Amino acid sequence: QRPRIAVVGSINMDLVFRSPRMPAIGETVKGTEFFQLPGGKGANQAVAAARQGAEVHFVGAVGADLFGEQALSGLAEEGIVTDQVISSSAAATGVAGIFVDDDGANSIVIAPGANELLTVAQVEAAEAVIAHSAFLVCQLESPLDSVRRAIGIARAQGVQVVFNPAPAHPIDDAMLAQVDYLVVNETEAAQLSGVTVDDADSAVKAAEALRARGAAVVLLTMGEQGVLVAGVDGFRFIPAVKVEAIDTTAAGDTFVGAFTVAMARGFALDAAVTEAQYAAALTVTRLGAQSAIPTRDEVIHLMTERRGQP
Ligand code: RIB
Ligand code: NA
Repeated sequence: QRPRIAVVGSINMDLVFRSPRMPAIGETVKGTEFFQLPGGKGANQAVAAARQGAEVHFVGAVGADLFGEQALSGLAEEGIVTDQVISSSAAATGVAGIFVDDDGANSIVIAPGANELLTVAQVEAAEAVIAHSAFLVCQLESPLDSVRRAIGIARAQGVQVVFNPAPAHPIDDAMLAQVDYLVVNETEAAQLSGVTVDDADSAVKAAEALRARGAAVVLLTMGEQGVLVAGVDGFRFIPAVKVEAIDTTAAGDTFVGAFTVAMARGFALDAAVTEAQYAAALTVTRLGAQSAIPTRDEVIHLMTERRGQP
């Protein structure tokens, strides 16, 4: 039985430049390679969930252009249902300009384009898709009101909500109170909690502040420092899976998608986090977003290989 997951979110085409280091303001750096690869936080999370074995339904928007066609056919090849994705000539498909340096770190600028066209009405039209899912997954590359409506529908229908408020943006308590699993990195945690996150203590303070604001469970992803899990039964750190970083793009998205599928399969919370960390680690070892996201077999293989090792 494949768990069913609805993703309400963004679709981008990523224009990826590899260079030895990031350019400074006003500087031109000679890079090494360029790639055009499918991305967007929503689409990446959907692909991660599909490759972990879920039946994924996507709600979003692309432009009626070549990038939009390529993005949609890519999602369809993953078996993702895209009949709730509108294709409009009112805007261009979202694009992300991504610089990746030799350490695998990135800097990203997005031009949201058609992602901004995802309306509350379109989300409401997809109510049945959300209602028939075990989990709803959303991010913040789509209009806030539309994401809020999707979460409201899920909550009303008894569908669990995984919310990744990225890129960071203020959120009201009423919205946070409808979130079952809030997945944030240090930046997003700081933005939403007002607590600067720079070590384990401040991470715990930020997570507790987010729980006090209404999020039921907070997963604070801290890269090589692992993941802080904070829920009703207290908090603990789950260590990161050590890998050689080639490109960290979509590591967070892979974590979100894989975590959601593991929860939908009935895994215990910490086991779902661990499986998601292995999936995210594999994404870090490869270039690009969707091009880097592992299948379930690859995740199981790495977990088996590392079992018993630190
Ligand atoms: O999270 C990674 C994604 O962020 C990239 O695929 C890019 O499209 C941006 O949205
Ligand atoms: Na990657």
